[in-house]
Amino acid sequence: MEVVIRPDAEDAGRTVAGIIHHAILEGSKTLGLATGSSPLGVYQDLARRHRQEGLSFSGVDAFLLDEYVGLPPSHPQSYSQVIRRELVDHINLDPTRVHAPHGTASDPQQEARRFEHALAAAGPVGVQLLGIGVNGHIGFNEPGSSLASRTRLKTLTDDTRRDNARFFGGLEEVPRHVITQGLATIGEASHLVLIATGPHKAHAVAATVEGPVSAQCPASILQLHPHATVVVDELAAARLEQQPYYRHIASHKPPGQGY
Ligand code: F6R
Repeated sequence: MEVVIRPDAEDAGRTVAGIIHHAILEGSKTLGLATGSSPLGVYQDLARRHRQEGLSFSGVDAFLLDEYVGLPPSHPQSYSQVIRRELVDHINLDPTRVHAPHGTASDPQQEARRFEHALAAAGPVGVQLLGIGVNGHIGFNEPGSSLASRTRLKTLTDDTRRDNARFFGGLEEVPRHVITQGLATIGEASHLVLIATGPHKAHAVAATVEGPVSAQCPASILQLHPHATVVVDELAAARLEQQPYYRHIASHKPPGQGY
C-alpha cells in the first residue's frame, strides 16, 4: 500500500484526479465512483481536466459503490443523482453508462445480485475511488462486514446515519438501508484509491493503514490488495506513526512514478 500525504484537501483531490486521468490515458474503460464529501475535490478537478486538458470519458463505464434503499434515482440525495450533479453533468461521460443499484427495486436482494453481475460482466474496474467513514467503512460496509462480502442489502449504523444527516432535512429522512458493493467486490478493482481529508478521519486512516486487517475496520482490506493508494491531507495523516517513511518514499520515487 502506498500512502501519499498532501498539504490540504484540494491538493489531495488533485492528486487522485491525476491518478484517474492517467488510468484513462492508459486505456482504462471502467471506473469505480464514490459519493459523499471526500471525492468532491476529485470530481471538480476531473471536470477541469475535461475542460482544459481534453480529458475524455467517452466509452467509459462508471459503477457506483452504493445506493440508498427507498430513494428513487430522481431524489436529490440518491447517489445516482449526486454523481450526476457533481460529476457527470460536467464531463462527457454518457449518463447511460453510469451504473448504480436501483434504490427502489421491489426486491433489494435481487437488485444487489443484478448489480454484482453487471459489474462482473463489465469489470474489472480499473481505478476504484473510495472515501472512508469515521468508523472505517468503505462503500457502506460497516464494521463487522465480512471481508468476503459481495453486493448486498445492508443496515446503516446510527453513527453513519447521523453523519449523513447533513445531506438531508434531518436524521429521520436518512434511509436505514443501502445496497452496497461488498468488500470482496471492491477488492476486485485493479487499483484501489482511497481519499481521506480532515481531522475527523485521522483515526480511521491510522486503523486502515497501520492497524490489523479486521472486519472491525473494513477499509483495512486495502492492506490485502496488490495495488492500493491512500491519499490524505496533513490533518487526516496526523495519527499515522510511519509518516516519515511515507514522506521518504514519496520524495524518492523512481523517475516517472511520482504523483
Ligand atoms: C459513499 C461511500 C461512503 C463514503 C463515506 C465517507 O458512496 O461509499 O463510504 O465514502 O461515508 O463519506 P464522506 O466523504 O462524506 O465523509
